[in-house]
Amino acid sequence: MRGRFITLEGIDGAGKSTHHAWLADYLRALGKEVVCTREPGGTALGEKLRALLLSEPMHRETEVLLMFAARREHIDQVIEPALQRGAWVVSDRFTDASFAYQCGGRGVPTSKLDALEAWVLDGLAPDLTFLFDIAPEVARQRLAGTGVAPDRFEQEKAEFFGRVRAAYLQRVSAFPWRFAVIDAAAPIDSIKNLLEKTIAKFGI
Ligand code: TYD
Repeated sequence: MRGRFITLEGIDGAGKSTHHAWLADYLRALGKEVVCTREPGGTALGEKLRALLLSEPMHRETEVLLMFAARREHIDQVIEPALQRGAWVVSDRFTDASFAYQCGGRGVPTSKLDALEAWVLDGLAPDLTFLFDIAPEVARQRLAGTGVAPDRFEQEKAEFFGRVRAAYLQRVSAFPWRFAVIDAAAPIDSIKNLLEKTIAKFGI
């Protein structure tokens, strides 16, 4: 039986990495084989592209194309083989991030991404996407508190993240059946509770 594909999304500083690890442990405790991965990245070539994407200045369409190039490898080498052998894939970001950051944030027309999505994903879509929703000001404070040097995206202004957040919420309106919106400002335990309930509700 084919596995399930779960993705985690949200603006930088929403705290999804914490929940990624917890969710994987939770699913393993339910007896699933879980593959934890991330975008951009997830393969040897994808991680090299990630390093470029997070540091090198580039045209916004170059950024789109490299995101989808990394994704092509990721689907071919990691996601599809895992799903085909019945494993559950939990990815820290996927295509919704491109619509949110490159279309919402950078202003690339969505029609261009629709075309790339049809080409590269060939019908693949997450079964369930958790959107960790948070106000950009709160996210910014969290990032500042980590003491880690901000990457090329994290250096963007609050308005950029306002647009990214709005684009994510548009994706929720367009695909309500696969999204669960989580208030990322809530206490960690109540978020865990909600993740558990959502997994149960989706019957997975
Ligand atoms: P992120 O997932 O936030 O990793 P970390 O927690 O290590 O900072 O970083 C990836 C960055 O890449 C993030 O700022 C969003 C950006 N991104 C896009 O702009 N488009 C995409 O399609 C993807 C997958 C990520």
